[in-house]
Amino acid sequence: MNIVTNPLKLQEISTRLKKDQVTIGFVPTMGYLHEGHRALLKAARDQNDIVIMSVFVNPLQFGPNEDLDSYPRDFEHDKQIAIEEGVDYLFHPSVEEMYPVPMSVRVKVERRTNCLCGRSRPGHFDGVATVLTKLFHLVQPTNVYFGKKDAQQVAVVHGLLEEFHFPINLVAINTVREEDGLAKSSRNIRLTPKERDEAGILYKSLSLARIELIKGNVNLAELKKTVIASIENESSGKVDYFEILTYPQLETVNELTGTIIIAIAVQFGKARLIDNIIFELDNTSR
Ligand code: PAF
Repeated sequence: MNIVTNPLKLQEISTRLKKDQVTIGFVPTMGYLHEGHRALLKAARDQNDIVIMSVFVNPLQFGPNEDLDSYPRDFEHDKQIAIEEGVDYLFHPSVEEMYPVPMSVRVKVERRTNCLCGRSRPGHFDGVATVLTKLFHLVQPTNVYFGKKDAQQVAVVHGLLEEFHFPINLVAINTVREEDGLAKSSRNIRLTPKERDEAGILYKSLSLARIELIKGNVNLAELKKTVIASIENESSGKVDYFEILTYPQLETVNELTGTIIIAIAVQFGKARLIDNIIFELDNTSR
């Protein structure tokens, strides 16, 4: 595996690969890799000639009161996972290499951001879209891999690729789950044993809400209220949001048809857990 830190060097490598008609699978990450990242890397390895992964904690996507400095980092561990999963090029630039001059141009995401996690993180998705625009120009991937657990990020990337005409195929990989349905996340280690026992309620609630939506004839506001009340009665979790929206537009559902996302965020003590399910509703089969 080659480690590259210089952005232009990486661009030179990808340009050469593209000339040779090689397919490039790209997995952008901020490091501190876990099983969810492994699933992305495995899919990229299966579907492409060459796999490039970036490990870069992007300051642009952190707000002034967010945890940029304490964001977990363990490059030696990430390198080991990259080797195990067959990564060909590991891109690990410094902040100075990625942003050598004060920025005069940024990408601003105008829609899909004022809901779910975006509501409490103003500017976050602008930072994500800006760094991805840079990364896409450097890596020139054929396929780019994201986890469905960060469904709002996937929706934003969907818009970025479509509206900026990037010739890149977006591959969204299913969330990796524990036996009780809890989505795997590095944040789960912050749960106490009692909270861990309770945390399966996120996926259970999403699944029950999906059943109600499939049945049809449901009042969305009532459904939301019932789900939030049952989570807060049955566990110590405090619901931050429980939303039912169209996907990937992330707009209000007016009709129970098409692609729908049910998304949830729950605070358990020191851990804020998020999860979602995305599925098709077909009103002709009801
Ligand atoms: O999901 C992440 O880890 C980051 O938001 C990403 C896509 C690598 C951009 O910095």
